[in-house]
Amino acid sequence: GIKVVTIGGGSSYTPELIEGFIKRYDELPIRELWLVDIPEGKEKLEIIGGLAKRMVEKANIPMDICLSMDRRQALKGADFVTTQIRVGHLDARAKDETIPLKHGVIGQETNGPGGLFKGLRTIPVILGICKDMEEICPDAWLINFSNPAGMVTEAVLRYSNITKTVGLCNVPIGMRMGVADMLKVDPSRIHIDFAGLNHMVFGLEVYLDGAAITGEVLDKLTNGAGMTMKNIVDLGWEKDFIKALNILPCPYHRYYYQTSKMLEEEKQEFVEKGTRAQVVQQLEKELFALYSDPELAKKPPQLEERGGAYYSDAACSLINSIYNDKRDIQPVNTRNNGAIASIPNDSAVEINCVITKDGPKPISVGDLPVAVRGLVQQIKSFERVSAEAAVTGDYHQALLALTINPLVPSDTIAKEILDEMLEAHKDHLPQF
Ligand code: G6P
Ligand code: MN
Ligand code: MN
Repeated sequence: GIKVVTIGGGSSYTPELIEGFIKRYDELPIRELWLVDIPEGKEKLEIIGGLAKRMVEKANIPMDICLSMDRRQALKGADFVTTQIRVGHLDARAKDETIPLKHGVIGQETNGPGGLFKGLRTIPVILGICKDMEEICPDAWLINFSNPAGMVTEAVLRYSNITKTVGLCNVPIGMRMGVADMLKVDPSRIHIDFAGLNHMVFGLEVYLDGAAITGEVLDKLTNGAGMTMKNIVDLGWEKDFIKALNILPCPYHRYYYQTSKMLEEEKQEFVEKGTRAQVVQQLEKELFALYSDPELAKKPPQLEERGGAYYSDAACSLINSIYNDKRDIQPVNTRNNGAIASIPNDSAVEINCVITKDGPKPISVGDLPVAVRGLVQQIKSFERVSAEAAVTGDYHQALLALTINPLVPSDTIAKEILDEMLEAHKDHLPQF
């Protein structure tokens, strides 16, 4: 049987994962699922553990749910380790989103200053997990969902000895679902050639039953069909821009191509309902109240109000295909290995891969269209410099990362934001 260890098991997203594993139990017989969290998260872990046990029991599946606050003990004998941590919890996210906004910069948890700081907090913890894995379960796969997933994967590839690692995000599957919905067809009939970086991924070609339909999809996208995720407002797209771009952008591209409009929108939302972190804090309260109900034995529909919809499908399909050497195609974050010509071989990219027992094999796309090549390289530089800052705790690298981010308008504003955020987050940034 398989042993999976989920670090950050007390996350409100965990029921997604449990549901995905239950659905696939015949092919993917997980005998032990360890949910690990820190002592601070004990109460949430126990609530999630209770629900997980009820879900498994109701499905009549012999999967043991084990709760632990001792990560090293839990890692013994692991085949797959999944990480879904949020260092500093949603309070830290609220700061990531609020402080930049005061300086007229988009406050977002994975892009811009929010992305940098989430990376600075998260990367050292993930690298600590890598160290433990090297020692305790060197043959296990590390599947990371923690944001910023692209930057974290970059850091694991560069600064740890773990090579069996994959970074995962629900944006690509969300785009496939969005296109299926747009065309009112079953998602299994849609295929998209994905390439780019995490939260910076493009659909280079979209297919219905194997026939390319990209132009039609782009027309629909700009003619009212829309496409986004719960955490990103859809302000529409400039029709002629999308026509010129001629590939499918992801919802996060709005922050780069519609920066001023998105900033105005965020400012207004901030006044009306607070930052996304605050909205999510409220949602979490409701979710945990539901999860605590001893009668509840399934994932409640309210979880779909979160931006992470379908993430369990992505995660469980990935683990399933590695375990069963399925060799199907899935978009994941992995070492480029030459698949995108203008990105270094040893950098992380988000790209369609053939998923084998030896991990994802990226499908080469040659190069990205010249229109997006530069932006993708710029964000890759941001991720690399940020990862270096996270590992070294070097102030100048952090300032460099922030200043080269396209959402930050000047060196001086970068420095102001950096200084304020370093102070605000100092409890979670021991390296600085
Ligand atoms: C999307 C992204 C995730 C992100 C989430 C935020 O799903 O792919 O990386 O964590 O949105 O959703 P939330 O409900 O927390 O705002
Ligand atoms: Mn994501
Ligand atoms: Mn320095």
